[in-house]
Amino acid sequence: MIRVENLHKHFGGFHAVDGASLEIATGSITGLVGPNGAGKTTLFNVIAGVLEPTSGRVSMDGEDISGLPPHVLFHKGMLRTFQIAHEFGSMTCRENLMMVPGGQSGETLWNAWFSRGRIAQEESALLKKADEVLDFLTISHLKDERAGNLSGGQKKLLELGRTMMVDAKVVFLDEVGAGVNRTLLNTIGDAILRLNQERGYTFCMIEHDMDFIGRLCDPVIVMAEGKVLAQGTIDEIKDNDAVIEAYLGTGLKNKEMV
Ligand SMILES: Nc1ncnc2c1ncn2[C@@H]1O[C@H](COP(=O)(O)OP(=O)(O)OP(=O)(O)O)[C@@H](O)[C@H]1O
Ligand SMILES: [Mg+2]
Repeated sequence: MIRVENLHKHFGGFHAVDGASLEIATGSITGLVGPNGAGKTTLFNVIAGVLEPTSGRVSMDGEDISGLPPHVLFHKGMLRTFQIAHEFGSMTCRENLMMVPGGQSGETLWNAWFSRGRIAQEESALLKKADEVLDFLTISHLKDERAGNLSGGQKKLLELGRTMMVDAKVVFLDEVGAGVNRTLLNTIGDAILRLNQERGYTFCMIEHDMDFIGRLCDPVIVMAEGKVLAQGTIDEIKDNDAVIEAYLGTGLKNKEMV
């Protein structure tokens, strides 16, 4: 679905992404791992149109999407999760979800005057959808809770929920499990698996928790110093000398210690 070819992103003289090439297959949950500063988030930001590539190419289903802005990619079904913005903290979970879909009739003044019936219809469809999403994520009891009062893990779930308000094809998750307790991490993992299996979402996720990655992802891509170092199943990755070296920075002599 997504093909990245010889991608570079430079910040001044610093090569954060330094000739990365990779593919994300349709229907996969692809993991992206690597030491801190490997360039994973920068790579995501370039793919998702948040940053312009210095050079290289990103395509989606064969179409060149290099440098397209996030809102255009959003309409093509590519979503990237962000932390919930502060301004949404005072809105309820349900309202946060209802905010997501673009192009609602209620957004223009003209429509506000002349088609109140249609707006009411859209509102009620959105409300139904938001409640379905909250139910799917097992957080229906939080629907009237302000997003700002949620725990870190619950915010991550709501973030995932935002991708379900539109017809997403491919979703990029940056450290969705970071700082989340085990129980909630399992809920997030289950939701990702169900979205993948039941709704055909393709995922690419950056994560440092190897157990979480191992449970969800195949294949796993390892990045180091802006480049793709290795790709394979979690077991292949764990056994790969170059990967161990990149993580430890000390080479094979420490392999016994892993
Ligand atoms: N806007 C920027 N300007 C300058 N340098 C940047 C910028 N964004 C990222 N970098 C640098 O690029 C490198 C890669 O950063 P990036 O955030 O992509 O790494 P990462 O693999 O996501 O790391 P982590 O696992 O810690 O999140 C880092 O050395 C970082 O300091
Ligand atoms: Mg990062």
